[in-house]
Amino acid sequence: MAAPVGLPPPVGDRAAGGEGPPATQLRPGLRREAYLDEGVFRHELVSVFARSWCCAARSAHLAAPGSQLVAAVAGESVLVVRQADGGLRAFRNLCRHRGARLCLEPSPQPARVIRCPYHAWTYGLDGRLLAAPNARELPPLETLDRGLLDVEVEEWAGYAWVRLEAGTTSLAEEIEPQLLDRFGDPATFDRYGIERLAVGHEITYDVAANWKSIVENFMECYHCAPLHPELTAAIPEFRSGYGSVSGGVGRGARLGPDVEAFSASHRASRPRLRTLNDTDDRLFYGVILLPNVLAVLVPDHVAFFRIEPLGPGRSKVRVEWLFEPEAVADPAFDPSEAVSLLDTTNLQDFSACERCQLGAASTAFDPVLVPAEHVMETFHGWVATRCSPGPAPGPY
Ligand code: FES
Ligand SMILES: [Fe+2]
Repeated sequence: MAAPVGLPPPVGDRAAGGEGPPATQLRPGLRREAYLDEGVFRHELVSVFARSWCCAARSAHLAAPGSQLVAAVAGESVLVVRQADGGLRAFRNLCRHRGARLCLEPSPQPARVIRCPYHAWTYGLDGRLLAAPNARELPPLETLDRGLLDVEVEEWAGYAWVRLEAGTTSLAEEIEPQLLDRFGDPATFDRYGIERLAVGHEITYDVAANWKSIVENFMECYHCAPLHPELTAAIPEFRSGYGSVSGGVGRGARLGPDVEAFSASHRASRPRLRTLNDTDDRLFYGVILLPNVLAVLVPDHVAFFRIEPLGPGRSKVRVEWLFEPEAVADPAFDPSEAVSLLDTTNLQDFSACERCQLGAASTAFDPVLVPAEHVMETFHGWVATRCSPGPAPGPY
């Protein structure tokens, strides 16, 4: 087993599930370079994103052999292809002739081959170069070593997870410690059965903030009372400043006593997910799977966030709302109440992240963390470890 990548609570922070007396100090946040500097950002793309298993795209709907999707990972384009044996392969989305991008978007129909539109070099679904038209002078193609460049891929929870730079840890070895840190067991997350759920709605947010701000914001609930009146109306305990991530290991937050469901109206529109049990009722879990996934688990749906870092001050966040397939297939399916509450919350969160990004532009930027935010230090330490040795001066 490789080094765990989970997020232990900081020692001395009892409120976050750690040992020892409650922390009371203000502690320093990250330096402004961590949010602004192009060199730091490039270093993170390579050291954090290219070397980690990143969630690339929902793969559960890629059923037929030859189905493809295109994903951006660590600033690179990756092509994920369903194979005839049901497995997935992933490749750099790059023609091995003159380097044209092979696919600009997923092909609507499953394909039998991958053909570059420029000079029609043609590859099998397994990446082998099959044809290079009008190049009869060439030796046999299989001797050329110009097949597509493989990228590691694993399928889990209905998503394709890819790692650009081959490593020694499996996806499970990276994910399981994080689930254990969050839930105390892997079974709670598994009960939501994310792999079999269907996408009922999706929104892509263009956020003018660094990717780390988005993770930091998701980790703490100190902002919940002032920023999220709708969220705290549904989950009153969030007014305490501790959320379901910062509240401690295994901790789910409870819906308010008169709140039937995590929805804008507080009314339930559908039964709970059928693989859940009574202990999951009325609970809200926030989950972070570094480096690029956030998830919200509630009794009747899951919201799955994928963060794509675009620059030091810009990120894309795609959120998919997942429901029981039968619910989505129902002609009367209407996810708007469920979507609306989280969408409102997301817009409030991302706008706060953007404010911090604007603040980081000031030479006087000097953030501090109150005890309810000390949990963020575990994330900062994780990034610093992945980035070590990092660019000087160290931003973490
Ligand atoms: S660049 Fe793809 S076939 Fe020429
Ligand atoms: Fe928030």
